[in-house]
Amino acid sequence: MCGIIAHIGDERVLNPIVTGLEKLEYRGYDSAGIAVKNGSGLDVWKCSGRVSDLKETIDGEESKANLGIGHTRWSTHGPPSDENAHPHTDGSDRVAAVHNGIIENHESIKERLIEEGYEFTSDTDTEVIPNLIAYYLDRGNEALSAFEQTIDDLEGSYAIAVIVDGIDSIFAARRGSPLVLGIEDESYYLASDVPAFLDHTDEVVYLEDGDSIEVREERVNFIDENDQTAQHEIEQVDWQPEETGKGQYDHFMLKEIHSQPTSLQKTVEGRLDTDAGTTDLDIDKDLSDIDTVHLVGCGTSYHAALFGASLLNRCDVSARAIRASEYEANTGTPPGNRLFVAVTQSGETADTLGALWQANEAGVETLAVTNVVQSTAAREADEALYIRAGPEIGVAATKTFSSQAVLLTMLSQHLARVNESGNRVEDADELVADLMELPDEVEHILQSSDTARLARKFLHSESYFFIGRGLGCSVAKEGALKFKEITYEHAEGFASGELKHGPLALVTEKTPVFAVCAEDNEKTVTNAKEAQARGASIVAVSPPDHGIVDTADDHLYVPDLHSVCSNLLANVQLQLLSYHCATELDRAIDKPRNLAKSVTVE
Ligand code: M6R
Repeated sequence: MCGIIAHIGDERVLNPIVTGLEKLEYRGYDSAGIAVKNGSGLDVWKCSGRVSDLKETIDGEESKANLGIGHTRWSTHGPPSDENAHPHTDGSDRVAAVHNGIIENHESIKERLIEEGYEFTSDTDTEVIPNLIAYYLDRGNEALSAFEQTIDDLEGSYAIAVIVDGIDSIFAARRGSPLVLGIEDESYYLASDVPAFLDHTDEVVYLEDGDSIEVREERVNFIDENDQTAQHEIEQVDWQPEETGKGQYDHFMLKEIHSQPTSLQKTVEGRLDTDAGTTDLDIDKDLSDIDTVHLVGCGTSYHAALFGASLLNRCDVSARAIRASEYEANTGTPPGNRLFVAVTQSGETADTLGALWQANEAGVETLAVTNVVQSTAAREADEALYIRAGPEIGVAATKTFSSQAVLLTMLSQHLARVNESGNRVEDADELVADLMELPDEVEHILQSSDTARLARKFLHSESYFFIGRGLGCSVAKEGALKFKEITYEHAEGFASGELKHGPLALVTEKTPVFAVCAEDNEKTVTNAKEAQARGASIVAVSPPDHGIVDTADDHLYVPDLHSVCSNLLANVQLQLLSYHCATELDRAIDKPRNLAKSVTVE
C-alpha cells in the first residue's frame, strides 16, 4: 500500500505529479504530499486526507520545478495526520523522501540518529530515510553515495524515491515493493504502478528487486543488488490510458463490473478450443506427477482460490485453498509433488508473497495467477499465468475475480488432462462452449439485473447473509466480502449447510438471506427454508427453473449454463447488489474507509 511517484522533465512537474497521485490513490488515501526542488531549496506540500485535499493545500501555487516526488498513504506507522504524511524531510530540509513499505529497523536507526543530534517530528518509520541521508551528507559523502549507504543500512521492504536540495537527480530503490520507470523522450517517471504515468508513456522498465536507480535529465543509471551497473530492457505495456479513467461511469467499480464482457473475452482469448473441448494455457512445466495443489491468496483472491480448488477436486485432482497468511510450506505431501498457485490480482500482496517465498524455499513448484505483468509474484514464481483483466482501480475487486475464476477453471482442465490422477471432466465440451458465451451472458445480466430494486428493498436490514454450496459457497463468501467492504453493513457468507450449526441464531426477519443456487442443489433449498422459518426473506440467485424459486421471496435470475458459468453470473448479480446498496448509502465506493487496494504489509 501507499503509492509513490517521482518525475523529472524539462517542464513544470507539479501537475503531472498531482495527476499521477490521483491515479495511484487506490493504493492508499489517508494522506498525500509532494516535494519539488525549486531554485533555492525544496518545496513541500502535504496534508491528511485525499489528493483533492492536497490540491487545495497547493491552492494553484505555481512552481517551475523540473523534478519532484509524490506520495499517497495507507497508514501503518502512526495515524493519518499532516505530520505523518509523506514526503518526509530531514531537520534541515535538504532531503525529501517518499516510501512504500516498512523499514523494520527504523527504531534502532532513529535512536542512533537522535544521539547524533538529528530531530524527528513524525510517528513514521520513513522519517529515518531523509535523516540518514543527511547524516551521510554531513560526513562529506556525495548525494549518490549518501543514498546508497542509507539503502545498505535499511532492513525491510520498500520502494523509495528521494530528492536532495541542489542535486538534479532523483534517487530511488526497490526491495520487496514495486517500482517501475516510465520513459517519455527525455522525461522520466518512477511510480508504484504504470497508471500513474500511462497518459504520458507506455514505455517502461520494471526495476528488479534490489535495484537502485539515479535518474537525471537525459540519463538513467541502474545499480543492481551487487552494486554493479545494470542494463534493463525497455518494455511496452498494453494497457490503454482510457482504461485508467472512469469514462461515463460514476465509479470505477461500476465501470469495472461493466467491463467484464471485455475482460473475460481477453482472459479466454486463444486459450479455448471449442472443437476439441479443451483449454490451452501454454504452461511449460510438466505437471503430470503433481498430487496436491495448494491455491493460496487473500480476500477476493482467496475466494477465487476456493472456486479453483472445488473445480480441481471435481476433476479428481486433490486441491486445497489456503489463506495466504495461514500458509505453512513445510507440512503435508513431499514438496516435489506439490503445486503452489499464488492467486493475486496485484501480485504484490505481502501475505501472498510471504507464502510464495516459503513455497519456493521448500522446493515446491510455484505458479502465479496474476493480473499485473512483471509483478513480484509473476517474477518470483516458477511460472506466471496472466488473467489479462486490464487495470483495476476500484478497491473492491470485481472483474479480476471473474477472470481469476475463469483462469483457474482453465487450469483445472489443464491439470485434469495432464495429471496422472486427474480425470478429464465429462462435461468439458459444455464447459468450454459456455465459457465462450460467458462475456455475452454477463452483458445480459448487466442489462437486466433487478439488483437496484432489491438493494432499496433490503436497505435497512440488520445483517445480510449469503449462502451456497461448492462453487456457490465461494460465490456466497465473495458476495458477502464485497457487500461489507463497500456498504459497511454487516454481511457474512456461509457454506449453506453450516447455517444450522450456529449462524442461524442470528437470523431474524431483518436478515435477508441470498441463496446462491446456480446449480442443481436441493440441500441449499432446505437450508434456505430453515432460515425462512426463522423470519428471513430469501433471495434466490438461481436459474428461473431451479427448485428454490418456489420457496424464495425474491429472485435474481441467472441462466442455466455449466455450473462454472452460472455461478460466475450469480457473482455478477451480487457485485451489482453491493454496488447499488453502497450507492443508496452514499458510501465512498471506490475508496472504502480503512482499506487500500494492494496490501503490502503482513
Ligand atoms: O492483489 P490481491 O489479489 O493479492 O489482493 C488480495 C486482497 O487484498 C483483495 O482481493 C481484497 O480482498 C479486495 N479489495 C476485496 O475486494
